Amino acid sequence: MTEEVSLEEFIEKLNYDLEWEYAAAIQYIQHQAVLSGAAFNNIAEELALHAEEELQHAIQLADQIDYLGGTPSVDVQKIKISEDAEKMLKQDLEGERDAINRYKKRIRQAEALDEYATAQTIRQILVTEQEHEMDLMDALDL
Ligand SMILES: [Fe+2]
Ligand SMILES: [Fe+2]
Repeated sequence: MTEEVSLEEFIEKLNYDLEWEYAAAIQYIQHQAVLSGAAFNNIAEELALHAEEELQHAIQLADQIDYLGGTPSVDVQKIKISEDAEKMLKQDLEGERDAINRYKKRIRQAEALDEYATAQTIRQILVTEQEHEMDLMDALDL
């Protein structure tokens, strides 16, 4: 399945992904701090680790955008918070699934543009997003 986009459109889409990585990092920082209760101690530590990995993803995407001739965005997409622990984890899970869907498309688009190194970088990001998804599904007993 090819999804051809121009280089300009591709850079725009990568910037949208970057804005969601910023949002994910901030959301995880907030959630790991607010999650309380013995039942959530382990997952709170896990979320702190996710926050650091989302920040790494943001750096990797910004570097790819710069390499491709674009200007990395500093806008941040919508952050979701809640007072309810389970709801927070569901918000995080929703974000991970959205990222996974976007990155699968982005890999195809990068390859259609012959940007194989960018595709490879996004593949590595996709691997950690799927790990994040699994961590959250475990925490939610899904
Ligand atoms: Fe990420
Ligand atoms: Fe993630």
